Amino acid sequence: IPSKPFAAPLHDSTLGALTRGYAWLPDRMRSADGAVYRTRLLGRPAVAVRGPEAVLFFYDEEHVVRKQALPGPVLDTLFGRGAVHTLDGDAHRARKALFMTLLKDDESVAHLCTLVRRRWRDAMEEASRAGEPVVLFDTAAEVLALAVRDWAGIPPPDAEAAGLAHDCVAMVDGFAAPGLRHLRARRARTRQENAMGGLVGAVRESPTDDDSPTALEAVAQHRNLDGELLDTHTAAVELLNIVRPTIAIAWFVTFAAHALHRWPHHRKLLRADPTGKHALACAHEVRRFYPFAPFVGGLAARDLTWRGERIEKGTMLLLDLYGQNHDPDLWAHPYRFEPHRFSRAPRLPDGLVPQGGGDPARGHRCPGEDITVAVLSTLVTELAELEYSVPPQDLTIPLSRVPTLPRSGFVLSLA
Ligand code: HEM
Repeated sequence: IPSKPFAAPLHDSTLGALTRGYAWLPDRMRSADGAVYRTRLLGRPAVAVRGPEAVLFFYDEEHVVRKQALPGPVLDTLFGRGAVHTLDGDAHRARKALFMTLLKDDESVAHLCTLVRRRWRDAMEEASRAGEPVVLFDTAAEVLALAVRDWAGIPPPDAEAAGLAHDCVAMVDGFAAPGLRHLRARRARTRQENAMGGLVGAVRESPTDDDSPTALEAVAQHRNLDGELLDTHTAAVELLNIVRPTIAIAWFVTFAAHALHRWPHHRKLLRADPTGKHALACAHEVRRFYPFAPFVGGLAARDLTWRGERIEKGTMLLLDLYGQNHDPDLWAHPYRFEPHRFSRAPRLPDGLVPQGGGDPARGHRCPGEDITVAVLSTLVTELAELEYSVPPQDLTIPLSRVPTLPRSGFVLSLA
């Protein structure tokens, strides 16, 4: 999409975004005069918005398109070339239906939670026997890798789960980083796209007509709008778009442990609540409070107007997810960890946006939110039940790093 430069040249913020991390956009938005913050990103004019009404504006596909919006380095690490994230209109809707069917089924989500719980308890028993401290982030990623492999129908051996966990973490860790972290992310993606492509090929050679196909079978048999199977590479990319973010729930699990350590009364509340309601409230508050996805972006499909501000066709539109999740106009005391805000008052539609907003079937909102919330609630409950101590370590969470984590990865010693 051709874009016209603004009359007054604006400073390019790419470096600021990379070095200031989570603080960059919220700070800029706070200091902006109007309803939007204008800058340049990757050499292109960019406009940032936030708030529930901005979510509806941003997720209207008449307003914002994704084709050519994502830079190559992000595709080659985080999402993969040809991913659902890059599609628009009917092609997007048809591909998205695959994810919605697989990820929005309550029984299937519950099944994944059962597998996660089982793998978690096995891992904790093993760690307890070994008597070694556990780096929670690494262990959670491996537990999730074992569980999602079972769930997605990826055949044994289990021994491959550690490599998968490591590679999926690398893909997320390196997408916005220069240098070695980025290189590791690219290599991890190539390795896992090849592995997933092999699995897709094998399933296609001996198809089943199961009524409830596994994720691997469903992706392998999914057809494009033209009736053709996805090419093997695209199928591998989309299988990874289920496996990788499920493993990435390890970030939220580690943040949850950080929260239970800093505000231990929630551990007591969790233990005293067999209904799971407090676990659910904690899961939502972890997703709101802690930094993970900073913002999402797309390109203005045509000349637009937002709250009187003109946005030219081709402008990069950014939705400030982290800023919105801490906006004092939406959240009382946004920098307090307060799970009860989710149990005491009805949820504002499109207020909480750690995984995007709008209608996931029609727009690009994350289809994995049910899975994220259910798996996180499961592991929050497990963490609250577990007897452990937290040895001295560096638990600071640097906001300049994307994605970030407590520096130690959260080490715990089992009782
Ligand atoms: C999209 C965040 C977990 C699958 C997204 C988006 C965000 C996000 C911010 C982009 C929304 C947009 O472009 O407007 C997260 C976070 C997660 C998570 C923070 C926690 C770990 C999951 C899980 C799955 C998943 C568990 C699958 C099992 C996807 C897919 C898309 C997506 C396929 C692309 C949707 C589209 O373009 O239509 N996610 N997600 N995510 N997520 Fe997640």
